[in-house]
Amino acid sequence: MNSSASRLLLAIESSCDETAAAVVREDRTVLASIIASQHELHIDWGGVVPEIASRAHVRRILPVIAAALRQADCTTSQLAAVAVTTEPGLVGSLLVGLTAAKTIALTLNIPLVTVNHVEAHIYACSMGHSNPIYPSIGFVVSGGHTNLYDCRSPADCRLIGGTTDDAAGEAFDKVARILGLPYPGGPSIQQAATAGNPNRFRMPRPLLHSGRLDFSFSGLKTAVLYAARGVPGPNQLTTTPPELVPDLAAAFQAAAIEVMVEKCRQAVRQLKYSRLCVGGGVAANGPFRHALQTMCRHEHIELFIAPPELCTDNAAMAAIAWELLAAGRTASLDADVLPGLVRPDFRRPRKSPPTDSPASH
Ligand code: KG4
Ligand code: ZN
Repeated sequence: MNSSASRLLLAIESSCDETAAAVVREDRTVLASIIASQHELHIDWGGVVPEIASRAHVRRILPVIAAALRQADCTTSQLAAVAVTTEPGLVGSLLVGLTAAKTIALTLNIPLVTVNHVEAHIYACSMGHSNPIYPSIGFVVSGGHTNLYDCRSPADCRLIGGTTDDAAGEAFDKVARILGLPYPGGPSIQQAATAGNPNRFRMPRPLLHSGRLDFSFSGLKTAVLYAARGVPGPNQLTTTPPELVPDLAAAFQAAAIEVMVEKCRQAVRQLKYSRLCVGGGVAANGPFRHALQTMCRHEHIELFIAPPELCTDNAAMAAIAWELLAAGRTASLDADVLPGLVRPDFRRPRKSPPTDSPASH
């Protein structure tokens, strides 16, 4: 499957509830990508339970790595480096991947590269494209993030906007629970919405014209709850009537998409960029991808969205480690995890676009 001369990277991802490993060639060809989803372990709770996630990672990490090496038809002697997600994410989950990666780096005497999960989600947009994706506005929209970034290069993405409460994927998951749909909520809502009328219920578009690159989804979630079951009081229903589910799913999805697409438009205009990269689990949503394409065509913005299988969590997107290796950014064996999202340099939004900024289209 690969020539013995090619340099291979083993990538490990365990930041949340997927245990994943991939083997990626230096030319970014993905030779193997294994993802062990934990959805069935969290389904009864309607969201990820950190303790359950960490324990499942411990059980699965070695079989997942072995399966990736098998799928790539390679041996450990062909590995040039090992990459692992160390930020942001659930602390216990991140530690499992990091411990495995350090052990491999030490025993094989190969470099360890630590990867930022958010930067990897954006980098995934470049995989399968030959056009450069930087500089650009990066939008990472997943279960844990709804963040806009000023992206100058693979590992230079600075936060310029984000959610003030729930992440978009979290809102999809919580609304699905209100509607009695299974976890993860995003695919369930997308499916239910296909049979729904998005205009039967009018949902709010929070912070749409706030003038800032911020988001809020908790009010939208509450609006769905009240439309589904009535306002709090003795007459509020405990479950949502099934006949309302398709229309409510469609109305929620349309409101969430309108806000996300509009904020992307505002970000690109504010920073005068001509490229938009969208990654993260919610970017797998079909109507959202379609709405982004329409907006970008209208605004003459070049749109990069990762293929759906690279939107949700995976290890292949840790191919960004090849860029870090080329820049000499290897990590030491006492590297630690950084569970929180905001790094100190992410707090400084740029006021003006870079002078070398983007080609106009
Ligand atoms: O990127 P991801 O796999 O994990 C995190 O880093 O959070 O994203 C998971 C999130 C979940 O909230 C899930 O409901 C959402 O992505 N998601 C979707 C779709 N597929 C996954 N949301 C909307 N539509 C989808 N088709
Ligand atoms: Zn993710």
